[in-house]
Amino acid sequence: MTNPPVDIVREFPDTTWADNGPTRGVEAVVEDGMVLSFPTLPFVLAEDERRFLDESWTDGHAKNISVRWPTGDLRGAAGSAADLDALRAMVVRYAEQSEAFALRLFPHYRGTLRRGNTSFRPVDVAGRETSWRKDDTRLHVDAFPSNPMHGTRLLRVFCNVNEEGKPRKWRVGEPFVAHARRYLPSITRPIPGSAWLMNTIGVTKRRRTEYDHVMLQLHDHAKADLEFQKDGPQAHVNFAPGTTWVVYSDQVLHAAMGGQHMMEQTFYLDVEDLQRPETSPLRTLERLLHRPLR
Ligand SMILES: [Fe+2]
Repeated sequence: MTNPPVDIVREFPDTTWADNGPTRGVEAVVEDGMVLSFPTLPFVLAEDERRFLDESWTDGHAKNISVRWPTGDLRGAAGSAADLDALRAMVVRYAEQSEAFALRLFPHYRGTLRRGNTSFRPVDVAGRETSWRKDDTRLHVDAFPSNPMHGTRLLRVFCNVNEEGKPRKWRVGEPFVAHARRYLPSITRPIPGSAWLMNTIGVTKRRRTEYDHVMLQLHDHAKADLEFQKDGPQAHVNFAPGTTWVVYSDQVLHAAMGGQHMMEQTFYLDVEDLQRPETSPLRTLERLLHRPLR
């Protein structure tokens, strides 16, 4: 059986992260659930940084090396103090370049876009050992059990920095509204008192709203549905080395099928600060369910 087609990747010709690049004011494209792809926008490593393209720099616990903001602390890496300083500087440079880039692409978000963690992922996707719920080779929208978002958007800037020609292989899926319609009939209401209890005993970092509950159920229902994973609407996308791509990962169905050596910057944006808040997962779900979710 052939999968219904999905056509959500839009390519742009930028070759610089700086303010003089050609693409700007494309909020409507990303808010519509498109993947903005820049096939000629590499994150350039200094000669001395190329040694970091190796799994051995992880500390053995985390699969990602990351810089946490606002402190700027490096996490998940092991090495000498001088090595870790150099590694941290590389990741921080990615944070700064991708932030300047995002604010050029989306000037409407100036003053409201918040910088989340920056990560360097040196580990091959194929080698990850996970449960079905953590298996990111299955199509899903991003939602996290311990970290309720309350509707806040997750904007991500990725760049494939592999030097062996390995593409970052993704699958992408159906529009969010179609995805919500597919699973909303089978989503149950949260158990009364459960959000309070999970927050009290520390399962969640703050109270889980009904929005978070529905998003987690969408994430889990999709990953558990093998028929949907195999025969649902989807497209394979290969992001070649030197490609940067930008996506709302709480809205775009995605799965990481392969690849190694990637940079990633997360940004947060409140729904009200979107150019068109009605395109958000929160407002879409509220429209479909006819009630507020937070
Ligand atoms: Fe994801």
